[in-house]
Amino acid sequence: MAFYPDEIYIQWMDQLAEDDFVVLDHFIDEDLFQLIFNFFEDRLNENDLKVAGIGALGDHTINKKVRGDFIFWLDRSRDEVLHEFYERVDELIIKLKTYCFLPISDFEFHLAHYPPGTFYEKHIDQFKERNNRLISFVLYLNPNWQPGDGGELLIHKKDKVITINPLGRRLLVFKSDKVEHEVAQTAKNRYSLTGWLLNNPVGLGFLQNS
Ligand code: OGA
Ligand code: MN
Repeated sequence: MAFYPDEIYIQWMDQLAEDDFVVLDHFIDEDLFQLIFNFFEDRLNENDLKVAGIGALGDHTINKKVRGDFIFWLDRSRDEVLHEFYERVDELIIKLKTYCFLPISDFEFHLAHYPPGTFYEKHIDQFKERNNRLISFVLYLNPNWQPGDGGELLIHKKDKVITINPLGRRLLVFKSDKVEHEVAQTAKNRYSLTGWLLNNPVGLGFLQNS
C-alpha cells in the first residue's frame, strides 16, 4: 500500500526540479511523529547524542562557531522501532529514482538537537572529501513551534532568502549540491531527523585527489 498517490509525488518532484527544494507538510502522521519523538527522547535521556562535527569521515572537526547541534546517527537494522519511517523513505526513494532519474543507492540519517542559542552557519551539504550526497532530507519534530522560537531554515537563492519554519511533521527535501542554507539561531530546543540520499554507499564517494 502506498503512503501517497503518484499524482502527489509527481507534484513534489516537479517542484523539486523547478526550485531545487520542496516543502512537504504533514509528511508523517501523528502516530509516527509520536513514535519518532519517543525514540528521540529516549536517546536524549540516555545521553546518546554527541556534539556534531564538520567535514566528512576522517576529517571530523568540531567548531561551535559553525554549528552547535548534537546528533545521533541512526541504523536501520538496529533501530527497528523506526521501521515505518524507513518504509516511507523507501517509497520516496523509488519515486525520486523513477521521476527524477536520481541514482540513489544508500542513505544516512541522524537525529539532531539544537539547544537554545545554537545555529548552523551558511553551507552546502557536500564535503570537500566526499561528494556522494544527492538529496538532503530534514524532517522537523517541533510540534509547538511559534514565531519567535527561532531555528528557521534559511535558503539562500541568488536574489532572495526563503524562510522555512521548522514545524512538526514538516519535511524539507533539497538538492544537496545546489542549495545554500543555514539554520538561524534557535531560542528553544529544536529537533529534527535529518539525512541524505546518496549515490554511493556510506563510506564511499570520497574524491581521490583532494
Ligand atoms: C544540516 C542542516 C538543516 C536543518 O544538518 O546539514 O543544514 O534545518 N540542517 O536542520
Ligand atoms: Mn545542511
